[in-house]
Amino acid sequence: MRVTVVGGGYVGLVTGACFSHLGNEVLIVEKVPEKVEKLKNGESPIYEPGLDDLLREGIKEKRLHFTTDIKEGVDFSDVIFICVGTPSRPDGSADLSQVEEVARLTAKNMNSYKLLVEKSTVPVNTHQLVKKTVQRYLKDDVPFDVASNPEFLREGSAVYDFLNPDRIVVGVESEKARKIMEDLYRPLTDKGFPLLITDPATAELIKHASNSFLAMKISFINMVADLCEKTGADVELVARGMGYDRRIGKEFLRAGIGYGGSCFPKDVKAFIKIAEDNGVDFSLLKEVERINSRRIERFIEKVKNAVWTLKDKRVAVWGLAFKPNTDDIREAPSLKIVPELLKEGAKIRAYDPKAVENFKKVFVEGEDLTYVGDKYEAVKGAEVLLILTEWEEFAKADMEKVRELMELPIIVDGRNVFNPERMKELGFEYYSIGRP
Ligand SMILES: NC(=O)c1ccc[n+]([C@@H]2O[C@H](COP(=O)([O-])OP(=O)(O)OC[C@H]3O[C@@H](n4cnc5c(N)ncnc54)[C@H](O)[C@@H]3O)[C@@H](O)[C@H]2O)c1
Repeated sequence: MRVTVVGGGYVGLVTGACFSHLGNEVLIVEKVPEKVEKLKNGESPIYEPGLDDLLREGIKEKRLHFTTDIKEGVDFSDVIFICVGTPSRPDGSADLSQVEEVARLTAKNMNSYKLLVEKSTVPVNTHQLVKKTVQRYLKDDVPFDVASNPEFLREGSAVYDFLNPDRIVVGVESEKARKIMEDLYRPLTDKGFPLLITDPATAELIKHASNSFLAMKISFINMVADLCEKTGADVELVARGMGYDRRIGKEFLRAGIGYGGSCFPKDVKAFIKIAEDNGVDFSLLKEVERINSRRIERFIEKVKNAVWTLKDKRVAVWGLAFKPNTDDIREAPSLKIVPELLKEGAKIRAYDPKAVENFKKVFVEGEDLTYVGDKYEAVKGAEVLLILTEWEEFAKADMEKVRELMELPIIVDGRNVFNPERMKELGFEYYSIGRP
C-alpha cells in the first residue's frame, strides 16, 4: 500500500519507517526543511534504537521518501497518518492547532477519497473536529473518512514496540476505513498481535486512559516508596511482591524521581481537562500529578540531607534524558533538578550518553555547568554524584574507579540503579528511593 505520514518526529518517523519495513511505500511530510534534508541523506534527526537501519533500508529500497510539501503528501496516497505534536496549553488542554492545520491543508489539496488517521494523541471526540474542518475546507464534494489509531510506542524501544505491539487500536466509522486499516496492519495481525476495532471516540479515549493509568501506577509506587523510607521497608521488594500479582503487573512500578517525557505529563493534564469540560470529576489524576511534581522537591531535599549545603559543591550528574535509550529531554526531571542545584550555588558536571546536545539548547554551558563526554570525567573531584536516568551503562560502571575519582564518595540515586549493600561495601554513602 501507499501511505502518507505527516510529521517527522518520534512517532511519525517510527510509523513511516516501520510501515515501509512492512512492505508499503511511504512518504513522510515534515515541515522543518533541515529535518527533511537530513532524512534524505539517511540521517535520523532523533536518536531511537533501530530507527537508522530502517530509514536506510527504506531509502535504499526506494520505499521511503521525504518531503516538506503537504500537497505532494496528499496526492501520494489515500491514507494520511497525522503524527504531529499535541502539546499542552497553559490551561492543561491539548493544543490541537497542528492537527487542525493538517486537516485543513489535506482538505484544500484533496481531489479523491482520503482516510485521515489520527495517530497523534488527541482528546476524545477530536475526530469530530477533524471531520468538520475537512468538510469546511473541501473545495468539491470529495468523500473521506477519519479514523483514530493511537500510538502506544515507548521512546527508547519505539521500533520494537511498533513491530511487536501489545495491541493495535483502530477507531473507524465506515467499512471502507476499517478495511484499509485491517489491510495495513495485516502483517502484524497475521503474526498474532491483537487488533481492537472500535468507534473513533473510544479509540481516542483508550490512549488517554492508558497513559493516565500508567502515570497513576508510577505515582502510586512513589508514595509507597515514601512510606518505605519512614518504616524501613524496601520499595523494590514491595514492587516485586505486588508485581507478581497478574492483576497488578510488574511494569511501571519503579520508584524514583517521577515520570517525565513528552507524553505522560501532557496527557494526564489533557485527560483531567477533558473530564472537567465534560463535568466529570477526575481529581484522582490531579493527585497523580501533585505526587509527581513533589518528587523533584523530595529529591532535592535528599541531596541536601546528604551534602548539607550545595553552595560551591562539585556535583556530578549522570543522566539528563527523561528515560534511558533516548535523546529526548521533554519534561525530563533533569530540567527541574539542574536549575534548582544551580540556584543553590552548585558546580555541575553533567553527562548523558545521548541527550547532552538537546540539554545544551536549554541550559547553555557556563562556569557552573559543564557537559562532559564520559561518565568518569563527570565524577572527577565530585563531592556528590546524582543519578537522574537509569541508563544501562551506569549500572555497569566501574564503581571502584568512580569512588577513587570522586573527592567524597556520596551518591544520591534517583533511579535505584545500584544495590545499597554493594554500594556500602564499596565504601559509598549511598542514598536511593524507598530503600533502607
Ligand atoms: N513521543 C512518544 O513517545 C509518543 C508516543 C505515543 C504517542 N505520541 C503522540 O504522537 C504525537 C507526536 O509526538 P512526537 O513525539 O512524534 O512529536 P514531535 O514533536 O517529535 O514530532 C512532531 C513533528 O511534526 C512536525 N509537524 C508539525 N506540523 C506539521 C505539518 N503541518 N506538516 C508537517 N510536519 C509537521 C514537527 O515539525 C515535528 O517534527 C503527539 O500527539 C504525541 O502525544 C508520542
